[in-house]
Amino acid sequence: MTTRNELILAIETSCDETSVSIVRGGREILTNLIASQIETHVQFGGVVPEIASRKHVESITILIEQAIVEAGVSLGDLSAIAVTQGPGLVGALLVGVVAAKSLAMALDLPLIATHHIAGHIYANQLVHEIKYPSVALVVSGGHTELVALESEGSFRIIGCTRDDAVGEAYDKVARALHLPYPGGPHIDRLAVEAEEEIMLPRAWLEPDSYDFSFSGLKSAVLSVINQANMRGQQLDESALARGFQASVIDVLVTKALRAVHAEGAQQLLLCGGVAANRGLRAALAARCEAEGIPLLVPPLSLCTDNAAMIGAAAHLKFKHGEFSTLNMKAEPVLSLEEWSVAR
Ligand code: KG4
Ligand code: ZN
Repeated sequence: MTTRNELILAIETSCDETSVSIVRGGREILTNLIASQIETHVQFGGVVPEIASRKHVESITILIEQAIVEAGVSLGDLSAIAVTQGPGLVGALLVGVVAAKSLAMALDLPLIATHHIAGHIYANQLVHEIKYPSVALVVSGGHTELVALESEGSFRIIGCTRDDAVGEAYDKVARALHLPYPGGPHIDRLAVEAEEEIMLPRAWLEPDSYDFSFSGLKSAVLSVINQANMRGQQLDESALARGFQASVIDVLVTKALRAVHAEGAQQLLLCGGVAANRGLRAALAARCEAEGIPLLVPPLSLCTDNAAMIGAAAHLKFKHGEFSTLNMKAEPVLSLEEWSVAR
């Protein structure tokens, strides 16, 4: 069986983006449509799960029809239907899962339940050649993980956050500074423009740990804001944003590079929405160049949630003939390691 030209129609609805993509051979994007709901959620300062589900219902059928037209293929050309099974908001995931099952059943095609974080990691495969062993640094609104990839489709988590995800910490700090949701890009802009830096602590945890913790840093930021308020002082918000970003980047870069060396990785893969952060990209690029480690980063459009990355990850399962049954369920908590392809 050839595994290079199959067309996988992939669906992603785990959070606040409805996306449908058609990917050829796990590498070539024919179309990647994304309907963002951010404008709806911005007024609430974060994603409202019930609203997210309703918005997915409104968009999903239109996007599937549009994807077929834009890719210039017919339903009969498809080889499989892939969908994000988890992790994510259960009501949001459910919309994609039901749509994918309906399509798979109606077209008599294999169904591939796909892991969202595997998708973020394999977004890199849409633009780069991944070499193994590799280490991936996953930084998103819901996840902060260091993942060792010994071979294609094998995932071993070597570190993760013990509290807030890095994007979540960005969003909470932004909220405390009365910046709009999602706050990451606003903090990034302030930090890059800042002339001063308010020094903040780094959470290194145990010397050999690859885990992260951002809640102490978030409390340190809130304490600086409260103290300025109590004293009636003008807060230098840019300097605070720069201090916060510097602490986050220092820890992420240091631990990621340590993991690369310990795992004998040939490459470092950066992925997830926070990979859009200019400070993080610049710092990682500089450290990787200095240490001779190739750094792979997807373009910004593939860093945030999208279905093309789900199509890329689903292809791993397609190659191994690992398909799901129609009683597959949306899983708000889903293990990445257990999703590894069978060896
Ligand atoms: O991967 P993603 O689109 O969604 C999840 O799966 O969580 O990531 C969204 C997160 C948000 O928390 C947002 O604030 C953050 O990515 N983000 C950034 C930047 N752009 C987006 N964080 C820091 N700097 C940025 N430039
Ligand atoms: Zn994501």
